[in-house]
Amino acid sequence: MIVTIDGPAGSGKSTVARKLAAHLQIAYLDTGAMYRAVAYAVLQRGIDLSNTEALLEAARTARLEVDCGPTHTRVRIEGRDVSEAIRTLAVSAATSHVARHEEIRSLLVEHQRRLGDQLGSFISEGRDQGTVVFPRADSKFVLQASLAKRAERRRQEMIADGEEAAIEAVMQNLSDRDEVDSKQWEPLLQSGQAVVIDTTHASIHEVLEQMLRHLGRENLDGGTVSPDRMRPNG
Ligand code: DC
Repeated sequence: MIVTIDGPAGSGKSTVARKLAAHLQIAYLDTGAMYRAVAYAVLQRGIDLSNTEALLEAARTARLEVDCGPTHTRVRIEGRDVSEAIRTLAVSAATSHVARHEEIRSLLVEHQRRLGDQLGSFISEGRDQGTVVFPRADSKFVLQASLAKRAERRRQEMIADGEEAAIEAVMQNLSDRDEVDSKQWEPLLQSGQAVVIDTTHASIHEVLEQMLRHLGRENLDGGTVSPDRMRPNG
């Protein structure tokens, strides 16, 4: 079974993808972590983000290893686990640059397909999973939420990481990224291929129930998923 979950930052994708994978006992592939890991390698090498050739060289040569389980995706660069280190604001900002290069996208798309072949059944989360990477997925979801809600989730996440930011700045950052990112999943909306779920006012539990219904699965029996509100995470 291949399930794709795409959508903007702060829509709740990561939380829901991880919970759904854990519930179905299949692997969770966080493709954002792969883009982040490449950006991390770029920063480590001190590469200027405007130096396209050097960026491509780093993406080609950085040894990226990805380990997917039902509740996690761990990434290693040059043998070092950077799964936590890739979550900083500096890496997030660099990742947006890195992810704009088609050549880098192609490398990671190929890598994601190889992982998919190895995993067999999995939930893949990102921006282009249902369109570019796994167009033949069994089920495709696009998660959305209002800009204000997504900004608030992101801000809470930053506070939890010890970083402060004005809500206006976070909203501006998200809406800037929306313009670039939304092109990745828009075809799914236009063609009606994806189930669109608005998470603005929904709990994790409600979103998961909705997804399971679409997947033809029974509900979450016995409260395996806590009905807490969406966590401020992807
Ligand atoms: O989901 P995330 O916040 O970890 O994603 C980090 C960045 O990577 C974000 O700028 C969007 C980009 N990305 C992408 O372009 N394609 C993907 N499949 C996943 C993430």
